[in-house]
Amino acid sequence: MKNIYSNIFSFNKKTLHKSITNLKKGNVVGLPTETVYGLAGNAYSKKSVNKIYKLKKRPKFNPLIVHYFNYKNAEKEVVLNDNFFKLYKKFCPGPITFILKKRIKSKIQSFVTANLNTVAVRFPSHRVVRSILKKIDFPLAMPSANLSSGVSPVNAENVADEFKKNIKLIINDGKSKIGIESTVIDLTGKPKILRPGIISPEIINKILKTRINIARKNLKFKSPGMLKRHYSPGIPVLLNQKTFNTKHAFITFGKKYKNKKNYFNLSKKSNLKEAASNLYETLRKIKKLKFKKIYVVKIPNKSIGIAINDRLKRASHE
Ligand code: TXA
Ligand code: MG
Repeated sequence: MKNIYSNIFSFNKKTLHKSITNLKKGNVVGLPTETVYGLAGNAYSKKSVNKIYKLKKRPKFNPLIVHYFNYKNAEKEVVLNDNFFKLYKKFCPGPITFILKKRIKSKIQSFVTANLNTVAVRFPSHRVVRSILKKIDFPLAMPSANLSSGVSPVNAENVADEFKKNIKLIINDGKSKIGIESTVIDLTGKPKILRPGIISPEIINKILKTRINIARKNLKFKSPGMLKRHYSPGIPVLLNQKTFNTKHAFITFGKKYKNKKNYFNLSKKSNLKEAASNLYETLRKIKKLKFKKIYVVKIPNKSIGIAINDRLKRASHE
C-alpha cells in the first residue's frame, strides 16, 4: 500500500539517524512504543518540551513521563528505592511507569514535571525507542501522541491524523502490541497505582508482597490522565449495556456476540489482553464510521479488565 502520509517513515538506519538529529535540535518526533505511540522530545530542552505541550494542547499542570534506556541513566535524576528495584527487575524494560522523588540536581525541565518534586520514569521495551535512547545523552519526555483528552494512538497513521502536518517525522513500526498506556505506580510512599495498565495490581502485589491501592483520584494535582473525562472518542459512550439501539455502535466481548455491521468485538475469546490491545483502534474506527453513540457491554473488572474499565469510564464521561 502506498504511504499517503508524507511525514510517516519506516524504521531503518537512515530514519534512526534522522530522529536523533531532530531530537538533538529540539524538535519533536512521533515514535512507536509497546504501549501506544508517543510524541518524543528532549526532556532537558525547553524548546522541545514547549513544543510537546503546544502541539498536544496539553495544560501545563499535567506532567509528562520521562523515558530512559536503563536505571543507570535515571539514578542521577531520581531517587531509586527497594520497591523500584523489585519491579524494575521483573518488568523493565516494559509497560510500567514509576513516580519517584526528583533529585535537586536533575536537569529535567521543571515544567516536564509541572513543578512537582516527583518524576514519572519509564523504560520502554520497544526496539525503535530503545535504539534511540541508547544513542542520545538526554532522556525523552514522551506523552501519548494525541491531542489532550483524546484517544491514544496505536499506529503511525493515528499520530498523523492527530497532528496533521504539524509534525515532520513519525516512525512507523506497526501496531503497538499492548494498545493501552503503561501502568503508573507511585513509589514515593506506600505504593499506589495512579493509572491501571497491562501490569495488573494482582501481579504487582505478588512482587511487592503487599496490597497496593488504586487511586480513585489524585489530590496533589489535577491531570488529564487522572481527570474524569479523558480518552474520549468525541461521541457519547454508554457502559454496562445489555440492550442497545441498532442505529448505534455496540462494543462487545466474548463469543456469544454475532458478527454484525455495528458490532465490534474486543475479544471473541474473552481474552482481556487482546481486548485491551483492540480498545483504542475500535473507538477510532467507530468514530470514523460516523456512528453517533457507542454502547459497551460489561467487561469483567479484574486483572487487565480494571485498566480497560478505567479507560472506558473516562471515555464515557461527558
Ligand atoms: O505508555 C505510556 O505511558 C505512554 C508511552 C508513550 O510511553 N505515555 C503516556 O504519557 O501515556 P501521557 O503523558 O499520556 O500520560 C502520563 C500520565 C499522565 O496521567 C500524568 O498525569 C501522569 O502520567 N504523570 C506524569 N508525571 C507524573 C508525576 N510526577 N506524578 C504523578 N503522575 C504523573
Ligand atoms: Mg495520554
